[in-house]
Amino acid sequence: MIAEQIKSAIRDIPDFPKPGIIFKDITPILKAPQLCSNIVDAFVEQLKGIRVDAIAGIESRGFLFGLTLATKLGVPFIPVRKAGKLPFTIKQKAYKLEYGTAVIELHTDAFEPGKHILIHDDLLATGGTALAASELIKEMGGEIAGFSFVVGLGFLNGKERLQPVSENLIVLAD
Ligand code: PRP
Ligand code: MG
Repeated sequence: MIAEQIKSAIRDIPDFPKPGIIFKDITPILKAPQLCSNIVDAFVEQLKGIRVDAIAGIESRGFLFGLTLATKLGVPFIPVRKAGKLPFTIKQKAYKLEYGTAVIELHTDAFEPGKHILIHDDLLATGGTALAASELIKEMGGEIAGFSFVVGLGFLNGKERLQPVSENLIVLAD
């Protein structure tokens, strides 16, 4: 039911940002407060029984529901940012994109070692970004509580890449 609500709200934009790519535009979801509330409630429901000490949301669209969910769960929110944005001391991780590489960063005091961190983003495509975030968090002494996404592109096999990291893999609409 939540999956259908999400799917019907998402707008497909062909050939954005490049020819051949169909962009999943989530802005119509953000204009629907009841749906936003239902999405957060669905995450809370599916996270029952899973230890979550903090939520790491991936810049930028992972910030949208990440902070709301963290606030609802009463746990800290940690921004995982693109290179050069965080002002304090940082740890970084480079990872491969289809063409070239990208870098994500965390503040060195983002969490205490041993904490169980849920990685959150809006969309699971190849899983490369979330996998890099999980590796960075583990290098910093964190445990991976799981992953949560609003929507997944099943044909890109992101789930298969993340499942070995944590069996707690929530994709509300896939
Ligand atoms: C998109 C999306 C995820 C990521 C998924 O972000 O929001 O973060 O790509 O791709 P992957 O599973 O193949 O790693 P994008 O880089 O477009 O940036 P944005 O969130 O700042 O818009
Ligand atoms: Mg993103």
